[in-house]
Amino acid sequence: MSKETDSWIQATDVIPMFPTLVWKVSFKPELRDAIDEKVMATLQRLRRDVPILEPGQGWQSEQTLHEREELQDLVSCVANLAKSILRFLRIGPEAFEITGCWATVLAKGATHKVHSHPNNFLSGVYYVRTQPGSDTINFHDPRSQPRVIRPPVVELTAENTDQVVVRVTNGTLLIFPSYLEHSVDTNMSAGERVSISFNIMFTSFTEQLSKPLW
Ligand SMILES: [Fe+2]
Repeated sequence: MSKETDSWIQATDVIPMFPTLVWKVSFKPELRDAIDEKVMATLQRLRRDVPILEPGQGWQSEQTLHEREELQDLVSCVANLAKSILRFLRIGPEAFEITGCWATVLAKGATHKVHSHPNNFLSGVYYVRTQPGSDTINFHDPRSQPRVIRPPVVELTAENTDQVVVRVTNGTLLIFPSYLEHSVDTNMSAGERVSISFNIMFTSFTEQLSKPLW
């Protein structure tokens, strides 16, 4: 606070409002390794007839991986975390379900453009294979008004940025609101970036109102 205001203000407070929450969880190495083995074996089977990715290319699996027996360890971790998050948000009691689960593989040079996951409440990504150069995800400011006027800033801070870059590693699980737009920068590493995405929605909505979109 400057000298001018010091002279007449008794107390100040900055009140955060309408926070956008992203949960970041790191799995214990034993669990991470067990899931890793099952996911990679599943992907190997699914990609058996898929040509090896060229630089700049990406591949996505079918959206029903959550129904596969091999992925039940990961599915139950995601479901448990979603349950805790809904409790934290004081939402419920409301039955929910995983409405979609798919793998994304990005070869060197591949990107994933800005998108969100309509007709879902929570979305998640679990990271199976990342390396320096392919270990981040960008989240974009969901508020529309700040985009109207973006004055120059002397330093990017959490308070003035329109994008937050989250660093991830193998065994990281992120859960975030499905409306929150996100993107992945170009894979600058030599290896493939492998992740498993999830969508979560209230059962009543999926039965009575609308099917989730991807
Ligand atoms: Fe996504």
